[in-house]
Amino acid sequence: MDTMKLNKIAAAILLAGVVAMTTGFVTRLVHPATGGGHHAEGHDEKRVLAAYVQAGDAAPASAAAAPVGPEPIAGLLASADVEAGKSIFKKCAACHSAEKGGPNKVGPGLYGVVGNDIADHDGFAYSGAMKELPGNWTYDALNQFLFKPKAFLAGTKMAFAGLRKAEERAAIIAYLRAQDDAPEPLP
Ligand code: HEC
Repeated sequence: MDTMKLNKIAAAILLAGVVAMTTGFVTRLVHPATGGGHHAEGHDEKRVLAAYVQAGDAAPASAAAAPVGPEPIAGLLASADVEAGKSIFKKCAACHSAEKGGPNKVGPGLYGVVGNDIADHDGFAYSGAMKELPGNWTYDALNQFLFKPKAFLAGTKMAFAGLRKAEERAAIIAYLRAQDDAPEPLP
């Protein structure tokens, strides 16, 4: 069986689990007495739901107040922790290889990407949005992209929420920089 099929099966099982959990949760909310629960349990769950609703209401306001752009990382790169970057790369490894000659997966192989032209990895079918992006992967461009991929480039195929912490972006970029025959000079 190929990995695509395995992925689909895994996703189906996951979804079934989530649906089962949610329906169970809602059922207990609507009928606090079912499932062996007594009244105290029902109240607890209502309070939990109220907390969720409040959090949901508060989210847009705090998001609007939060700074939009990422913190710059140029000053962090020289002392960035490459080993920490290697371990953060586990978040990317489902979709990317970083070793020399590594395969394209869901995303393109990333060996040598720092400083390279954008959307230039052989044999990878980039989104139209990324193909049209001019220039190369400067430290600044990578910092912006990895902060929030879809905000940096609407229409990118990279389904990854991003790395909010400047230290994490510096570490991963320092790690990627080291995966190169001739690492890009630091800024
Ligand atoms: C769910 C899969 C997925 C994850 C997780 C992911 N990526 Fe990607 N990445 C992609 C895809 C798909 C593209 C191609 C985007 C396009 O064509 O719009 C891409 C493109 C890129 C590019 C541009 C490469 C080029 O050749 O121009 C970089 C750099 C990159 N990803 C870095 C990362 C890093 C670093 C992480 C982890 C912090 C990460 N990605 C996590 C799927 C992913």
